[in-house]
Amino acid sequence: MIDIVTLYTELSSLSSAEQQLQLSKLKNIDSAIADELERMLQVDDIPLSSSELISQQVTSPAHTPWQSFIAQEVMGFRIKRLLSDTGGMGLVFHAEQTISNSDQTENEIHKAAVKILRRDKLNSHQQTAMFFSEASSLMALDHPNICSIYGVSEVLDHACIVMDYIDGESLDLWLANSKCNQKQKIDVFMQLLEAVCYLHYRDIYHGDLKPQNIIINNQGNLVLIDLGLAKKFKTTAKADNRETIKAFSKNWSAPEQIAGEHCEAMSDVYSLGAILFYLLTSDQLEQRDLHKISDKELHAVLSKALSVKPENRYQDALQFRRVLQQYQTGFPIDEYSMTPVYQLKKLIFRKPFTCLACFLTLYSIISSVLLFANL
Ligand SMILES: Nc1ncnc2c1ncn2[C@@H]1O[C@H](COP(=O)(O)OP(=O)(O)O)[C@@H](O)[C@H]1O
Ligand SMILES: [Mg+2]
Repeated sequence: MIDIVTLYTELSSLSSAEQQLQLSKLKNIDSAIADELERMLQVDDIPLSSSELISQQVTSPAHTPWQSFIAQEVMGFRIKRLLSDTGGMGLVFHAEQTISNSDQTENEIHKAAVKILRRDKLNSHQQTAMFFSEASSLMALDHPNICSIYGVSEVLDHACIVMDYIDGESLDLWLANSKCNQKQKIDVFMQLLEAVCYLHYRDIYHGDLKPQNIIINNQGNLVLIDLGLAKKFKTTAKADNRETIKAFSKNWSAPEQIAGEHCEAMSDVYSLGAILFYLLTSDQLEQRDLHKISDKELHAVLSKALSVKPENRYQDALQFRRVLQQYQTGFPIDEYSMTPVYQLKKLIFRKPFTCLACFLTLYSIISSVLLFANL
């Protein structure tokens, strides 16, 4: 049987001329698979949002000019300026709330980000109710590396999410501007792992992990945003998942997500691997050339995280974090090697003085025994 996911992974690393050549060969064997692959390869970053979970039947767009939202009030915040209009699903605005101090000194300003969904994405009362229920479950999340959601509301008849405003820059901009060494980059990545571990521990997967959905704030801490596709996975039946998860980001999503198959924590693990590779090489993984990773242990970790088959990856972010912690603290990485020589080398690296003391003790015992035997 032809495995479409493996084929997609192989083809996506080829040039478009080579892709066409392979597709035409495949058409003679199985034209349906070839057509499906062609469709998958043509699609570029399908935009994601919370509404994608709910509405698959997009009708005619209902645009409200973004200027109309300026100065509107929502949950006590006044909308000030447009932050982003890149998402096909909605607009993100910066909003502020002025809290006057009782002692008449300087007023305090609270900032928020307001994500306003396009009206055409919620087509019925039922879909709107589902949107509010999904968003409310995300409101319960409380983690320093995950953007807090204050609430969901409506503005000019559009559903919106009001959340913490994160002052900083997206991970891709941060990477381009920073002069971090490998250790610092892994430290930043560990913060992302902390956030995703928090989600996976609650059986939620993010579904859209990519540099554009990660902000490094002005204090240098990582904050995960855009939980639009976050979803409970253990309670999700495969068929239901197939129906709802249609969105992906080409360079960051797992092959099974791109193929529209069942997704869960392992799909996030793939995206995490892609982000770690990106942090270490500044490459967006289109060629998936892991040889660029000269550190052999990290190479082994990334090969596992980026396995085409979900079952060959770390099963969730918690497993991934455990291995990277081992790497950071100098413990052996089983994916790299399990030989006694390697284990011993790691032990010597971790505890050089203890090893030296043991060696000297052993040496003196052996020499005393030999000396005694010679007498
Ligand atoms: N909480 C926030 N604080 C600051 N900026 C944000 C926040 N949420 C979104 N943004 C900005 O808006 C952009 C798009 O937001 P996102 O939630 O990723 O929506 P989309 O569905 O369009 O991907 C982000 O890349 C970021 O620049
Ligand atoms: Mg986004």
